[in-house]
This record gives sequence, C-alpha cells and structure tokens, in this order.
Amino acid sequence: MTTHPTRTALRLLFDFVGAIEVFNLSSIDTLNPVSPQAAAITRLFLGVLVILAVIFVLVSGLVVYAIVRYRERPGSSMPRQLAGSRKLEFLWTAVPIGLLATVFVFTAKTMRAANPKKGTRPADLLVVGHQWWWEVKYLKSGVITANEIHLPVGKAVLIQLEAADVIHDFWVPQLGRKIDAIPGHTNYLWLRADRPGVYSGICAEFCGTEHAWMRFEVVVQSPEEFTAWEQAQLKIPQPPSEPEALAGMKLFNELTCVNCHRLAGTRANQTAGPDLTHLAQRRMLAGGAAVNNPQTLAEWLKDPDRIKPGSNMPNFHLSDAQVRALVAYLETTK
Ligand code: CUA
Repeated sequence: MTTHPTRTALRLLFDFVGAIEVFNLSSIDTLNPVSPQAAAITRLFLGVLVILAVIFVLVSGLVVYAIVRYRERPGSSMPRQLAGSRKLEFLWTAVPIGLLATVFVFTAKTMRAANPKKGTRPADLLVVGHQWWWEVKYLKSGVITANEIHLPVGKAVLIQLEAADVIHDFWVPQLGRKIDAIPGHTNYLWLRADRPGVYSGICAEFCGTEHAWMRFEVVVQSPEEFTAWEQAQLKIPQPPSEPEALAGMKLFNELTCVNCHRLAGTRANQTAGPDLTHLAQRRMLAGGAAVNNPQTLAEWLKDPDRIKPGSNMPNFHLSDAQVRALVAYLETTK
C-alpha cells in the first residue's frame, strides 16, 4: 500500500497540532531556567545575542549611512578613496579577535557551570533511551519507571545516561543542557530543579519515525512528597479481587505482554517495553503521545498505531472485552 504525500503531510500536521494539545509545549522553554545549570546557558545565550545585536546595528547603520551620504548626485565627485591604512586594518582585525575571545571565555565558563564534574560520587539515576521511550531506574532505592522522572526540589541528582538501540538525546530545556545517549558509551549529567513543578523533556536527536513522541516529564516535588512517591513505587501490586481485573491479569500473563514488559509481582520481567508496575500512576502514555487515563489506555491497547504510528507496541487485535479486562487489571496496579 502506498501513502499519498498529501496524506502524509496532513498526518504530520495533525500529529503536530495533537502534540501542542496533548503536551504542554509552552513548557519547552529555554528562556525560563529553573536550575543554576540552565541559568548559565540562558545567560550565555542572552550575552551573545546582545553582542550580535550591537554588531548588526553598527554594520547596517554604517551601510545605510554610506548609501545615503555618498550616493551619486548631480555634480558630485568621487568620495575620498583610502587604501593601506594601518590603523583601520589593525582595528578591524583586533576588534573581532577580542569579541571572539570574550565569547570563548564565557562559553568555557558556561560549559563548566552547565555540566559540573562527576567526581567520585556514584550516579543516582540510570536513564536509558529506547526507541521510543525512556527507562528510568533509581539506583539506590531500586524504583523503576518510564518516561517520568521524579526529583526532590533543590537537590542535584547525577544521571547515568545510556542507550539501548540508537543514539538519543536527553534534554529538559528548563533544567539544563542537552546530552546524547549513546549505545555502548555512558554519559553523565547533573539534573536539578529549584522550583517544584512539572518540566517537559524531549529526545533531541533524530532516532527514527517516532522520535517526536519520545518525550518525558520531570516532576519536581518537596522532599516529603518525593519520599512518599518513592515508597509507593516500591510497593508490589497485589493481585486484584474484582473478576474483570482478574480476567485481565490472566490475559496479561497469557498474551505476549510478558515478553517485553516488566510488572513487579508477576513473571513479566523484560525491558524491551516500559515497566508497567505502577502504570496507573503515570501522567502520560507511550512516551508522551497521550495523557494516561483508562480511556486512552484502552485506545492504546486496541490500536497502538492510532496513538503512536510506527510504535514498537504490536496490535494484538484484542476484542473489546479483552481490552476492558486488561485496562481493569492495569488500573489496579497503582
Ligand atoms: Cu530518541 Cu529521538
């Protein structure tokens, strides 16, 4: 089957509009830093912007002045010609070198501020980029989640960044720099937020068809809220008692869900797809492609391609009753 280019273009447009609706794109904000690392980057950007603005105004001003002042008029003669001026040659060589040196020094300072040294401290958080979702593991407590990073406010957390398949790029614009997740090579990044809230993150390196739906959120909480969240995540969900949810649990174990996912307390223990242990608590589904609620979860199970075209979640052609049972079960795993 071939797809008409117009249809493809329209689908991409709808995807984009959908992205604005579903995902709070206004929080992809590079000029509103919430960490010292991001603040250093914003300062460098604004500083360079001011230097460039001054150069732009100066050069275009001189050009306009020359055009008006020395234009050809009746009876005008050739303006004075100047060649071989040592003073001018020196000036227009030294000034750009001085400006470049200034920008270099500020860039080097920003690089140090934006990515402080790892030191001898072990990482707090392992983040692995997958096509097209993020695996998140808290190395001390053992909490595993996906596409959602919880942080206590004001505390710097050291992230160990890896990739499972191709190169991805981890970026939370309000919290700091971008950094690649590379297969076979570990990168480190400090993540810190000085204000509670939810900050959007994206994959910033093209990594395949669903690159645009490889989003995540950083939920920044008070230390008490964070500890409560961590404790809740560590709980192993109890088997449900309600008949529909029980049927869902049976289905979950019989279908191939267990070949790709992990769900604590069951035999599902794989990392090809996101951990589902506390799926019902998460804000988003499918790497940010939809808000997580029972209805979107049902749509996702029924036909993943409708929510995230080309995703690696297969369509199992489940019946409505099977979808209802699976949703009932997954909703109990809070
Ligand atoms: Cu992962 Cu783009």
